[in-house]
Amino acid sequence: MKFKVGASEKLDMLKFKNLGIEREKIINSSYIDAIKFDYKLNNLVNEIHPKEIKVKVANIINENLETKTFELKPINGTLPNFKAGQYIVLDINKNNHTYKRSYSISSSPKNLESYQITVKRVRNGLVSNYLLNDVKVGMEFTIHGPFGEFTYNKFRDMPDVLALVGGSGITPIMSLARAINDKAEDFNLTIIYGDREEKDLIFKKELDELASQNEKIKVKYLLSDEHSSVYDTGLISKDIISEYEIGKYSYFVCGPIHFYHHLNEIFKELDIPNKYIRHDIFKENEILRHIKHELTVLTNDEEITIPCYEDEPLLQALEEASIDAPRKCLVGVCGFCRSKLIDGKIRTDETSLREADKDYNYIHPCVSYPLSDVTIKLCK
Ligand code: FES
Repeated sequence: MKFKVGASEKLDMLKFKNLGIEREKIINSSYIDAIKFDYKLNNLVNEIHPKEIKVKVANIINENLETKTFELKPINGTLPNFKAGQYIVLDINKNNHTYKRSYSISSSPKNLESYQITVKRVRNGLVSNYLLNDVKVGMEFTIHGPFGEFTYNKFRDMPDVLALVGGSGITPIMSLARAINDKAEDFNLTIIYGDREEKDLIFKKELDELASQNEKIKVKYLLSDEHSSVYDTGLISKDIISEYEIGKYSYFVCGPIHFYHHLNEIFKELDIPNKYIRHDIFKENEILRHIKHELTVLTNDEEITIPCYEDEPLLQALEEASIDAPRKCLVGVCGFCRSKLIDGKIRTDETSLREADKDYNYIHPCVSYPLSDVTIKLCK
């Protein structure tokens, strides 16, 4: 059907145009000096949630051969409150570049004298190796946050939570367990914690103690690469999840990206609706740099071409070129790094890209890897 433009529509258009002229007149005659005072509320918000916090490494705990916990204390003032399950972003200055990495807080939200983050080594991982090999007590860092939605909410989540954990995904779950024990949270937490071998398990002693002292916390271990009479062997499976009454639990999934995909298939098979599932994914990339491409970056006023590699997310190439791209979670969840793919082929670890973004070629460079020369436009 063809839409006819009659007299009344033309009159409306004219009124609309005049409205624009009127609006411009009002803007031009308005008071244009910047507001000379700060809103008290803004000051309060900045105090409660500062954009950045300077911290010092107060203690380093060796959890196992490949994992350390770093205790970060504020250099001035106090640390912001956080909910168990949230993460901070750590700035790491190395080789004249600033790398940002997100780490879940593993300590209890009742302890605001310090935040603890627990880092496991990734083979050939740029940042984890630096943290584990070179960082010493007394070194200073800048952190941002805390951020994140991987938290318990009694209005949304069931009174019983089944935490499905892969490897160092235990860190935010440890914070949740500590929070329950400190009465900062109140729900029943059953943890199924899978790792390769017993020596890889982090926080085992404390988890066992919490489970023996607190009836709200239960823990079961599962080893994929070690046979033992003490532990179950294998991967978290449909049968294991089905042992816990479907419909009674919320599921908190935390682990590497392939673990998340594995469990998602199981949830589909078991018809568990998404509203019962929360997830926190982590990854650090093994840097091999075998295949090189070119990444052309368009911003509002410039075009820059830099090297990128098939095994590194595009965001890493931006960091190495000191291009300040927006970013936060680094795992494709927060949407802060959303950019438009103008040209080229990528593969992606996307877990939560919106349908509209797919249709219009938006990507998250933190989880997008080049398969050819690529051009992107940063959305700042
Ligand atoms: S930094 Fe969060 S989606 Fe990329």
